[in-house]
Amino acid sequence: MQVYICEICGDAYIGKEKPTECPFCGAEASYIKKGSDARPVFRREEELSEETKKYLVETYELEVNATKLYNCIAQKTKNYEVQAMYKRLAKVELEHAVIASKFLERERPQIEEGECFQSEKDNFQKTIILEDHATKLYRGFAQKVKEEKIKIFFTALAQVEAGHIELVNKYLE
Ligand SMILES: [Fe+2]
Ligand SMILES: [Fe+2]
Repeated sequence: MQVYICEICGDAYIGKEKPTECPFCGAEASYIKKGSDARPVFRREEELSEETKKYLVETYELEVNATKLYNCIAQKTKNYEVQAMYKRLAKVELEHAVIASKFLERERPQIEEGECFQSEKDNFQKTIILEDHATKLYRGFAQKVKEEKIKIFFTALAQVEAGHIELVNKYLE
């Protein structure tokens, strides 16, 4: 067994081999390091610019909304696989909100009850719209921010959300 640490969310994974994605925030394997090589994520080296803080607040709000939506979809569906998938998606999005809250030195997010559609198809489509918006937003933020660590965070997040589109699209085929 070994300790691996994700350089996006800072969570440790304990296992025999490095996972292909972080099980907590979904970041790609290139961001997962052996414990001894990992750099601390949330050690504050520089003050964040006001612009960056604004982007992080928007990210935080988007991720809280995604968590609420996915919790609702998980509760509504009668399909066991879809339920498990949305429970996981909700946890991943919550992790994203938590990362943003740590960068902002804010309290952990409180998740209230969300709203979603009755129909599975409508919920899948709503998911794709949300994820598409998130992917584009984070790509833009990644280009605009000056702080290297935050740039990496938005780049990784855009990849994760694009992966969610790919995943949910399969259920619409
Ligand atoms: Fe997310
Ligand atoms: Fe997502």
